[in-house]
Amino acid sequence: MNILVIGTGYVGATTAILLSELGHQVTGLDMEEEKIKRLQQGVLTFYEPGLEPLLQKQLQLENLMFTTDSVQAIQEHDVIFICVGTPSLPDGSTDLSAVRKVSARIGQLMASHKLIVIKSTVPPGTQQRVKRWIKDALTYKTSFDVVSNPEFLREGSAVHDAFHPDRIIIGGDSEESRSQVERLYGDMNCPVVHTNPETAEMIKYASNAFLATKISYMNELARLCDEVDVSVQTVAEGMGYDPRIGKSFLQAGIGYGGSCFPKDVKSLIALGNEHYTELGILKRVVKVNDSQYRYLLKKVKRQLGLLRGKRIALLGLAFKPGTDDLREAPSLAILSELMENGALLKVHDPVAKLPRELQFPSIKAFPSIEETLLGAHAIILCTEWPQYVSGAWEDWRPLVKSPYVFDGRNALDAKKLKALGYHYEGIGVR
Ligand SMILES: NC(=O)c1ccc[n+]([C@@H]2O[C@H](COP(=O)([O-])OP(=O)(O)OC[C@H]3O[C@@H](n4cnc5c(N)ncnc54)[C@H](O)[C@@H]3O)[C@@H](O)[C@H]2O)c1
Repeated sequence: MNILVIGTGYVGATTAILLSELGHQVTGLDMEEEKIKRLQQGVLTFYEPGLEPLLQKQLQLENLMFTTDSVQAIQEHDVIFICVGTPSLPDGSTDLSAVRKVSARIGQLMASHKLIVIKSTVPPGTQQRVKRWIKDALTYKTSFDVVSNPEFLREGSAVHDAFHPDRIIIGGDSEESRSQVERLYGDMNCPVVHTNPETAEMIKYASNAFLATKISYMNELARLCDEVDVSVQTVAEGMGYDPRIGKSFLQAGIGYGGSCFPKDVKSLIALGNEHYTELGILKRVVKVNDSQYRYLLKKVKRQLGLLRGKRIALLGLAFKPGTDDLREAPSLAILSELMENGALLKVHDPVAKLPRELQFPSIKAFPSIEETLLGAHAIILCTEWPQYVSGAWEDWRPLVKSPYVFDGRNALDAKKLKALGYHYEGIGVR
């Protein structure tokens, strides 16, 4: 099948590569020329383990190409995936302007039947709006189908998730259009749920909001564990054996971030408000998350006192390991607050770069962990990259000025660090 993928960011590039690996002839279209140039050269515009070799392979096999020419691209492809961004508006609702723009462009240019697949995360009811936006822009009297097919991949394990999805959700108005989308994936050996478009759209939001809820629940509980001298890690272990609860997403820390959870939870709350349905649990989820990094900073201030002039080493910028994505990363809020308090910040991340808005004389990024730790009054772990978790803490001990370690991910071996002479504090860790 000839497939066009519009939007070649994180999801679009991964989807285009996956579909070409599955034997389709795929074109990726984006409005950012620089991004397209790099993709044409086989270079990803984000860090994702294992994805770039597949991009290069598919380019070489000529199963995959990239363009900025929307006219030719839309006219020549019968199946079009929409993978553009859907960020938050100031009131928390979803900014659908990119989806709207792309829909209108498709309507304006298409001269034969198209199957349009919405992969962007969009609120229930968007498939209906996309149909209307396309219809309103039609130049030629042409039929089309719009199917909702939300994406569930995780940054850092996108290759695995793309090829081994837990499930494929397909929401369409007709059995025929849903089956056409299912056939595109070949035999993925996973459950495929056929439903109406609104339900498919809701499944994506409900899933992300539920995972965010698990995280905030454990984070709030961890604060209480600190008070009553209980280890939240042992609590999580004990809970996780219950198959109804499961082991994942029970690790307390400085809160969730990234391009999905923060905006998707807020979007669901906004949708509830729009329909006079209060989603009180999710409001609390956001509140706990927004204040969780401050909870760790309180511990830092309690130990270090005045932060002015103190050198603080921050390990990890990315919102989670395996990615260079800094969208809504708690590390950024921590850096800003420490900077406002006059601290001198030394930063390290294996792949993520210090964003432009945080390039101040008091924040300096270092290429090695050792240089970052040298002379530090305290270390804050923000991302549980393996190089930190199983790092040479015994060799690092003499480098620091004072041995305070604040583990924002409860990922380090507290006992080992204490034995090495560090003053270790996690969140709800004994
Ligand atoms: N990143 C993830 O882990 C993830 C996972 C699942 C779902 N999603 C959802 O997928 C969607 C895309 O997310 P992302 O992280 O890939 O975003 P992104 O910002 O990395 O990529 C979006 C791309 O769309 C392009 N674009 C915007 N308007 C365009 C237009 N009019 N024509 C052509 N290209 C256009 C942008 O230039 C950009 O390259 C969002 O709805 C997101 O919520 C993301």
